Amino acid sequence: MASISNLGYVVIGSKKLAEWEDFAVNLLGMQVGRSEPGKLLALRLDDMQQRIIIEDGEEEDLRAAGWAFKTDRDLRAFVKRLQEQGLPVQECSKDEATNRRVENLYSLADPNGFTQEFFSGAYAAPSNQPFMSQRLRGAGFKTGDLGIGHVLIRAQDYGKSLDFYQEGLGLRLSDIIRAEVRPGYVAEAAFFHTVGGRHHSLATGAVNIPKVLGHMMVELHSLDDVGLGYDRCRAAGLNFARELGHHPNDQMTSFYVETPSGFSIEYGWGGLVVDDESWTVKTYNQFSDWGHARPGQAVR
Ligand SMILES: [Fe+2]
Repeated sequence: MASISNLGYVVIGSKKLAEWEDFAVNLLGMQVGRSEPGKLLALRLDDMQQRIIIEDGEEEDLRAAGWAFKTDRDLRAFVKRLQEQGLPVQECSKDEATNRRVENLYSLADPNGFTQEFFSGAYAAPSNQPFMSQRLRGAGFKTGDLGIGHVLIRAQDYGKSLDFYQEGLGLRLSDIIRAEVRPGYVAEAAFFHTVGGRHHSLATGAVNIPKVLGHMMVELHSLDDVGLGYDRCRAAGLNFARELGHHPNDQMTSFYVETPSGFSIEYGWGGLVVDDESWTVKTYNQFSDWGHARPGQAVR
């Protein structure tokens, strides 16, 4: 069956393109791929032309998630399956596909207030323009078949969201975390992977946040780069939604820092890769097994 390969890009709507450029390039070590002042900022994390796209917009939130397919044939078979389920997937114009720097592009409204996009044939950067970070010392961001990272989405209706991501998009459940995060308040989130194997490319929970996007995660090859990024963000006086810590399910060591749009980026190292042949779905009762303290919260 034709399945999503990985999370290939995300699109953010923001009025703060200049702040995003400074944050992404100078603090996180990303690279500008394309810049149209006041309109668009396309960021590189690797040898693809664009991975995080900031478009002029009022949302300060996720606008679209772009899911990669290995071939056009896989993409078309997937779209046919969405249509057979009665999901109103649309073929995008050539101009829209070119703007995303892909050959073939389809879109579908997500029940949680953003657009799911499906593509094949992403544009690689010219080989004489390899990814160059001004900040990273290690081997850069961990992408490739794993995709760019993950997004955590606020579920407006948790049950319907699980159905849409599992039955609709065919994402595979990795595990569930159900934990009492404050006295009397139990939070639950479900974590989904693709055939690419990253422990989760999308997670969703009925979380009490004003935005669609709770956070997005990017992974580094080097733990030192996570620590150096932490120091740069701290020196710049940024707010940390979570201090350094570790998740028991995907084994990610990370911190969460506030982006210019107000949601967080999780900057991490050491994430688990799922092998579907041997994987067993588990339930955890803690979101973090050490660290990840919120602002002002005592270390556990
Ligand atoms: Fe995360």
